[in-house]
Amino acid sequence: MKLTIKRIGERETAYVKEVLDSDFRGPRNTNMLKRVEEAFSKRMGVEYSIGHVNGTATLHSALYAAGVRAGDEVIVPPLTMAATTMAVLQQDAVPVFADVVEETFQIDPKSIEKLITPRTKAIITVALYGLSPDMDPIMELAKKHNLVVIEDDAQCFLGEYKGRMVGSIGHFSSFSFQSSKHLTAGEGGMVCTNSLDAADLVRRFSVLGYASVSAKSGKITKDDIQNPNYERHASMGYNYRMPDLCAAIVLGQVERIDELVQRRIDVANLFLDVMKGCDWLIPQYTPKEYKNTYWGLAVRIVSPTISWADFRTKFMELGGDGIYATWKLTYQEPMFQMMNFAGKEDVIKATYKGELQEWKLGLCPVAERVQQQILAFKTNYWEWDRAEKQADILKQTIAYFNAK
Ligand SMILES: Cc1ncc(COP(=O)(O)O)c(C=O)c1O
Repeated sequence: MKLTIKRIGERETAYVKEVLDSDFRGPRNTNMLKRVEEAFSKRMGVEYSIGHVNGTATLHSALYAAGVRAGDEVIVPPLTMAATTMAVLQQDAVPVFADVVEETFQIDPKSIEKLITPRTKAIITVALYGLSPDMDPIMELAKKHNLVVIEDDAQCFLGEYKGRMVGSIGHFSSFSFQSSKHLTAGEGGMVCTNSLDAADLVRRFSVLGYASVSAKSGKITKDDIQNPNYERHASMGYNYRMPDLCAAIVLGQVERIDELVQRRIDVANLFLDVMKGCDWLIPQYTPKEYKNTYWGLAVRIVSPTISWADFRTKFMELGGDGIYATWKLTYQEPMFQMMNFAGKEDVIKATYKGELQEWKLGLCPVAERVQQQILAFKTNYWEWDRAEKQADILKQTIAYFNAK
């Protein structure tokens, strides 16, 4: 193992230079978008990848291509970053929250099943902290009820579920290259799918509905537009295309994906070793036949005497870098508590024929309990000695509380 790895390396710099040297002129086009999409598809084992500006736009495009429209229901987990659910509102659809599994923190297929109605159109699964949800029963439910499954894999690159690559199981998958993610260009996103029709829809939606773009081509040529009778826009769309500079960095990162993902797994293992035998810190459970890629190392603190805040304070006092809380449950966020659907109230009231879930305490009891317990440690240490130092501080923190 290399002790220090660079987060942004020479390849990324070289590809960025290629784009800059092109002067952004058509004839010198570097085809960066096409190159990164092909490289990503190859690595993920999917047919089509469509570059986006971020990992929220990706979800919006996927929901559109999945046929989700105003008034439809989309089942989502509440324990995730709110972007997962905001994308549902962007499509004027209604989010329905399913509970999670206590040990893995992932959406619970049994809870999903209870929430399916004739209005349900899609399920968004989230591979939280780099671990896949239990996808087989979810895909079975989807088949039985004719639903579309969108994997939100913003936090999971090269994860595995029963021998399959996370991102290749659902009908769509969505990735983010925001600055905290395994691969990054500061921002950026990718939608993957194996369906040509779906990929065409995602592409067109993400490139202003241009008639000439398609699954494998996101660029508009001069021949297309140098024609007075050319009809450009076949459908409504957004300007979500991944910029070339972003594509250049992501291409370099995709070529280094093993090294970047492995570093997070190695750091997580270092911390997990230190926690062995501590019965009040319970790590996210990784079932057999799953590969957790540890976007962060999430642990539940379950002690009647040591509070979340006490633990963090001591860890910081001893020189710890910081511990993150997990997100507030999405339905507990003010914008959901107001029940105004982020200003979409009118369209949702006019189109939704179901009975709205009450977004109150008690809706998802497991998620509500677990949310209060999760401590998430950073795993993105590029200098190994810094990670070792943090593991030692964690060891000292545990010893301090055990000795009390
Ligand atoms: C689970 C999840 N979904 C969606 C997003 C949104 O991605 P982006 O910030 O690229 O829009 C993020 C993180 O940023 C995330 O963690």
